[in-house]
Amino acid sequence: MSVTVRVPAKVNVRLAVGPARPDGFHDLANVFLAVSLYDEVTATPAPSLRVTCEGPDADRVPLDRTNLAARAAELLAARHGIEPAVHLHIAKDIPVAGGMAGGSADGAGALLACDALWGTGTSRADLLDICAELGSDVPFSLVGGAALGTGRGERLTALPVGGDFHWVFAVADGGLSTPAVYAEFDRLTPDAPAPTAPPALLDALRTGDTTALAGALANDLQPAALSLRPSLADTLAAGTDAGALAALVSGSGPTTAFLVKDAESARSVAAALTASGTCRTARTATSPAPGARILTP
Ligand code: C5P
Repeated sequence: MSVTVRVPAKVNVRLAVGPARPDGFHDLANVFLAVSLYDEVTATPAPSLRVTCEGPDADRVPLDRTNLAARAAELLAARHGIEPAVHLHIAKDIPVAGGMAGGSADGAGALLACDALWGTGTSRADLLDICAELGSDVPFSLVGGAALGTGRGERLTALPVGGDFHWVFAVADGGLSTPAVYAEFDRLTPDAPAPTAPPALLDALRTGDTTALAGALANDLQPAALSLRPSLADTLAAGTDAGALAALVSGSGPTTAFLVKDAESARSVAAALTASGTCRTARTATSPAPGARILTP
């Protein structure tokens, strides 16, 4: 017997970052939107915890205890006083590059899959607690849709979304360290104000207005990501030159996100980005997408 869970990637349509807190994290107003690129995590009984991965980027995925899927299984098993005797197989379609929460998706997926496989019946609130322990973005991978994340991004309020949005994601070669991007933010922004999510952005989501959303996209980490990786400016320019309505760094990068008018525009912007040589690959997606879901056989 095995259980498979499908989990979406995300883009941050507004990432407002406040000053560093005493615990080293930053208070955020982080508006997450789940997008239609998915990993599938399959949990199967096994003598001991083991992680495997397939997909075009599989060789970039760590298979040891640093993988959030493995840590999710360990935390859930510890909470219920059982052994994490499970094989977790990740079918990876979310690009392996920072900014799309692919690792967080696998953590949320493994958690839901193990809970179903082991029949541990963990409450939604406890699952969200374990997600927050795994990482600031993991609770959102569980719930999907659109949400405002406050605190360090883990305290979620669901947001209504009134229509579909079309995206292109440019996947960069190599990564950017999230702590390094936050440290660069601190250096560049010594007096960061308290983070807020602007009403115009929330209205654009609620009404499904692509043009209004394009005008409201913003990421406070973008100057820091560009400072550490100046070539991302070329990727952003290539996408807007090709007709994207707006471009921004997704999360702490280096993935860049392009909001486009429709599916046809997504295809042409993705083709132009690939041809530009400013990224490793480009993917198209729509939002919102549902959160982690068990796939029935
Ligand atoms: O929670 P997560 O493991 O994703 O955080 C990775 C790193 O990103 C943290 O160690 C911290 O340096 C930075 N971070 C932060 N403030 C947040 C979220 C993450 O400074 N709200």
